Amino acid sequence: MQTLVVDHPLIAHKLTTLRDEATEAPTFRRLTDELVTLLAYEATREVTVQPVVVRTPVGEAQGVKLASPPPLVVPVLRAGIGMLDGMIRLLPMADVGFVGLARDEESLVAATYANRLPANLAGRHVFVLDPMLATGGTLETVITMLAEREAASVTAVCLLAAPEGIERVAAAFRDDVPLPVRVVTAALDERLNERGYILPGLGDAGDRLFGAV
Ligand code: URA
Repeated sequence: MQTLVVDHPLIAHKLTTLRDEATEAPTFRRLTDELVTLLAYEATREVTVQPVVVRTPVGEAQGVKLASPPPLVVPVLRAGIGMLDGMIRLLPMADVGFVGLARDEESLVAATYANRLPANLAGRHVFVLDPMLATGGTLETVITMLAEREAASVTAVCLLAAPEGIERVAAAFRDDVPLPVRVVTAALDERLNERGYILPGLGDAGDRLFGAV
């Protein structure tokens, strides 16, 4: 598994404001959207293209267009929904699937409550949107669902990642597993606390985007 921590001053600046507990929901939503678009630029670096020729007003130009079938973007409900617009701004031709997982706050085990994914993902590159890669349980479950549908590759776009989550996903999808897996994140934080929250983190991303439930 590859992990890319995107090192860019604009990303660091926006992430710092996102972390700040004084940042209110409207600003938090806008910054999440902007950060995802910046991360998407790196996350899509290896997207497949095919050659095309176009006529300019004065000649012919060799170019490329995104190959078919289009990528699939999968926001993980609920917090991943806050990342969808920022991602499809760069990939407007992408299809969108949905997976819903809720974490039991005692056991920290995530249970699947929604699944709207195409049955067959052969040849499809998939971008999973989940703001917080914490224990890695959710991401491992989602990638397993995508692997069962024969996705060509999976790139997880996360605002923040914890070392524990990176290690768990890397152990589950080692280099001898045929599915290439990448994690693209704005920062790799210190660790998880006893409740499975990322430290220093930004708190509960779903609550900060959409309010406490
Ligand atoms: N989910 C969150 O929203 N925040 C964390 O810190 C960990 C998991």
